[in-house]
Amino acid sequence: MHGKRILLIVGGGIAAYKACELTRWLRKAGASVRCVLTDGGAQFVTPMTLAALSEQPVHTSLWDLKDEAEMGHIQLSRQADLVVVCPATADLLSAMATGRADSLAATLLLATDKKVLACPAMNVRMWLHAATQRNVERLRADGVTILDPDEGEMACGEFGPGRLPEIERIGAAIRAALSGPGGLAGKHVLVTAGPTHEPIDPVRVLANRSSGKQGFAIAEALAGLGARVTLVAGPVALATPRGVERIDVETAAQMLEAVEAALPADAAVMTAAVADWRVEAATEKLKKSAGPPALTFSPNPDILATLGGHAQRPELLVGFAAETGDAEAEARAKLTRKGADWIVANNVAADPMGGDRNQVTIVTASGAERWERLPKDEIGRRLAARIANALESDQA
Ligand code: C5P
Repeated sequence: MHGKRILLIVGGGIAAYKACELTRWLRKAGASVRCVLTDGGAQFVTPMTLAALSEQPVHTSLWDLKDEAEMGHIQLSRQADLVVVCPATADLLSAMATGRADSLAATLLLATDKKVLACPAMNVRMWLHAATQRNVERLRADGVTILDPDEGEMACGEFGPGRLPEIERIGAAIRAALSGPGGLAGKHVLVTAGPTHEPIDPVRVLANRSSGKQGFAIAEALAGLGARVTLVAGPVALATPRGVERIDVETAAQMLEAVEAALPADAAVMTAAVADWRVEAATEKLKKSAGPPALTFSPNPDILATLGGHAQRPELLVGFAAETGDAEAEARAKLTRKGADWIVANNVAADPMGGDRNQVTIVTASGAERWERLPKDEIGRRLAARIANALESDQA
């Protein structure tokens, strides 16, 4: 990101205020930002705000002769490494898809020879309208990268897809667009997922309710950002995400073995609900007629803690903590005890294991970040973006 030049086109929607945050974020990441504000955008934020944040003049009109003398629209569209449209309104998407040139923003988008990343944000019905979807499809076919909007409660009070993704995700998409196939290209990330099954005898096991959905969603999102992903999965009924190398295991001991064999890794995300204990398994099926068996438990290895103190410790080590009580406090204790960098805490009393949504809090040495209740694949995308940003900033 350092030294990269971003041309940021800010459309007219309430999400325009987030473009101000994005400008700050990009400046902090070392990029230079030149902003173009549409007439609609100027109804929501002022040129002064963006000029102050970007420390560059803000361009608004195609007919501003001074602009044309100092920096014509062709030059402006070419002197960038990436053009970002944020928020991309329905009108801007339509202009882009049909090649209109009736405003400075539309003209720049037509004149540019650079990659374009559009971040749509609009009312859910406008987003889902056939016309908008047609425009998005057209733009994707034209080579424009479209960052799918988030789903959630919107400023207009409605619920559904259409919300601008959070800044970290936009930042990761910008990084990915600048660096080619993905922000995690060349990185190896290890993910554990699902439960473990500890045999009692040849037919019975000790198990737990983990579905593996969250871990699989994270693996998919990491692969989507270009990472090489090794997914070590306990017994789950899920399809392997595209582009992911999956290793199936049953017990905690097998999971540890597979994890160690997959090292080295740049990052590891341990979502598996590893059984804390195993039992001395009988070689023959225990007979019901013999009455309830006395099981002898012994502790399983802690895979996360083993990685925390490993000679080949991944640069970024992320653990999960499923709790029914004070999730954040428990997560903080686990962060130190297991030598992890982040613990993703989730309250399984509110969202029982196996569901499609989660409410998580990311606990790190420097604080805690509470995310709203989200679909698990959305959490996967956000977490993958955060991982891409963390690995990148460590390199800088
Ligand atoms: O201690 P607890 O099981 O609550 O910790 C949860 C975190 O530790 C998760 O990231 C889980 O994948 C990991 N863990 C592990 N091996 C164990 C137990 C937990 O890797 N035996």
